[in-house]
Amino acid sequence: MALAHILDGLADYLQHRIEEGERWAEISPATLAALRQPAGALHHSPAPARTAPAIAPPASPRPVPAAPPPVAPAPDRTPRAAPPPTSVPVAHPPPAPPATRAPATPAVATDRAPYTRFGTTPALDAIASRVAACQQCGLCKQRQQVVPGQGNPHPELVFVGEGPGADEDQQGLAFVGRAGQLLTRMILAMGLTREDVWIGNVVKCRPPENRTPLPDEMAACLPYLRAQLEILQPKVIVALGATALKGLLDVQTGITKLRGHWLSFEGIDVMPTYHPSYLLRSGGDSGASSRYWDVWEDLSAVLQRLGRPVPARKKPAPPAG
Ligand code: URA
Ligand code: SF4
Repeated sequence: MALAHILDGLADYLQHRIEEGERWAEISPATLAALRQPAGALHHSPAPARTAPAIAPPASPRPVPAAPPPVAPAPDRTPRAAPPPTSVPVAHPPPAPPATRAPATPAVATDRAPYTRFGTTPALDAIASRVAACQQCGLCKQRQQVVPGQGNPHPELVFVGEGPGADEDQQGLAFVGRAGQLLTRMILAMGLTREDVWIGNVVKCRPPENRTPLPDEMAACLPYLRAQLEILQPKVIVALGATALKGLLDVQTGITKLRGHWLSFEGIDVMPTYHPSYLLRSGGDSGASSRYWDVWEDLSAVLQRLGRPVPARKKPAPPAG
């Protein structure tokens, strides 16, 4: 069989495992040693022992999580374009010499990846330190942790949400709860990973009971996001939901009217779209909800503006009757 065929099949199989939520593969020391040999020597290696222990992840061992029930299965997975999403490269102008990458966390194409900050720069760290000590508004009182935002320090694309929820408040990372998992799936559907983008919020501390942040709170916090965006210099910002849009641009028009229309923040193109939490309440990403396709249309426009290919997605036929 042609090697390219075998490789394709293997890539499909691994992609499927990743989509099922698996993160680590069992591989015996013997197989590993064989793989390290030159290609010609491979067939001399002993057969892999199936019961070999799993290779531990590089940093802290993390057991494969018992997969929680899927938030909303996406039957209409994007057909895999040549390389699987784990290896989709993004051209980041300029290259990132001063960035310190988080240690040894592989890019994982699943919505349940172990979330990390991925990368940062001293300038972004300086803002995060100021946020950590901030008492500019009342939201500082009940926070467990501040959530400054995280991701690629040289992104083409930034997502901005409203404010941290309970999971984010606990972990200090933006969009790591259910809405975050849906956002991750949307990013993967775009042919990107969370490592390619930067994700943050208009307020950095959790509003009690997940209430909408007040205009005063958003105004008090906006300088941090503004400073972050000045450093990040993305080509496009996706504003997730009405509150994020209002916090960023102080517009009064609702998200239903504005979504899909290009706006601008400090010279950066802004695409408003629905918040993933709203999508979760209106059918998730099963493809059954027209809201989902609205969001996909908006994200497709973003990809086009970035000069990136728009993966084909097929709307399911409307239910009969
Ligand atoms: N919703 C948001 O707006 N931001 C988060 O970080 C999580 C949920
Ligand atoms: Fe400071 Fe923003 Fe937190 Fe308010 S929400 S305390 S302004 S970091």
